Amino acid sequence: MEYVRLNNGLSMPCLGTGTNTYGKENDEYNGELNGDFSALESAIEMGYRLIDTAISYRNEAGVGKTVKESGIEREAFYLTTKIPPQDEYVKDKETVRKTLDQSLLNLQTDYIDLYLIHKPIEDEDKLKLTWEVLEEFVAKGKIRTIGVSNFSNEDLEKLGEFATIKPAVNQIKSNPTEWNNEWIKFMLDRDIRPQAWGPMKTTDKHRETLSEIGKGYGKTWAQVLLRYQTQRGIVVIPKSHDPENQKANLESLDFLLSDEDMKRITQL
Ligand SMILES: NC(=O)c1ccc[n+]([C@@H]2O[C@H](COP(=O)([O-])OP(=O)(O)OC[C@H]3O[C@@H](n4cnc5c(N)ncnc54)[C@H](OP(=O)(O)O)[C@@H]3O)[C@@H](O)[C@H]2O)c1
Repeated sequence: MEYVRLNNGLSMPCLGTGTNTYGKENDEYNGELNGDFSALESAIEMGYRLIDTAISYRNEAGVGKTVKESGIEREAFYLTTKIPPQDEYVKDKETVRKTLDQSLLNLQTDYIDLYLIHKPIEDEDKLKLTWEVLEEFVAKGKIRTIGVSNFSNEDLEKLGEFATIKPAVNQIKSNPTEWNNEWIKFMLDRDIRPQAWGPMKTTDKHRETLSEIGKGYGKTWAQVLLRYQTQRGIVVIPKSHDPENQKANLESLDFLLSDEDMKRITQL
């Protein structure tokens, strides 16, 4: 596994697994919870250690149970979860504390590696109090790294006005249908690590070009796509229910794209 360094001096794996349909009927985001975490079990068995969940996925507890039952030491994992922006979770400091403590219970752990605010909290007071409690949990050792998700440049600047601890990560959508290059540059310039959600979204045309590039390396379109992102410093969390694809995604890390191919992919 390759690691990236964060602005707080800690490091995180550059590739992990998403989980937003794990443990659910028909592998659907809104499906009923059915306790089937076989996809996560196979990912862990294959070597995935960064696992991305969220309170809104309703599967923190199943993720925690699967990690625990893997028998692998807690320190080997990098667990990410996210607090939703709704009042139910962020209306005051005590509510935020309860929300974070519930995540620790669900994930059956004493600490969470990365805790993100899932989406911008429009009310500035609530954003401030949520961030302050996240900072408090870092001070207590219950969270190691704090960050955000789907925060625009303006949202990041607003947070920067009062944050004592800078956000280390901004998890945003990035794939060939929407590279979000300007946004990513803004983060990289400020030492905020971009993490790409939905990294596999492509059109037939994209896959055709990526497959063509992949031929030169003996790699698939998906592997080329993931490598393009990790090679430019973006952490990726592809999600798959297929063990073969999970394996292929991990194997995107065992080659490097040429500068020329990197340029070609940027122009997709
Ligand atoms: N912060 C946010 O707001 C936010 C929003 C959305 C998602 N997320 C996180 O990001 C994670 C990833 O995003 P996502 O799940 O929406 O989408 P994704 O990972 O971009 O795409 C998942 C799709 O890609 C396919 N796939 C994966 N590997 C493949 C491969 N090697 N070859 C061919 N197809 C492959 C999967 O099919 P198979 O199952 O058949 O392999 C699945 O249909 C989520 O699970 C979640 O943890 C965060």
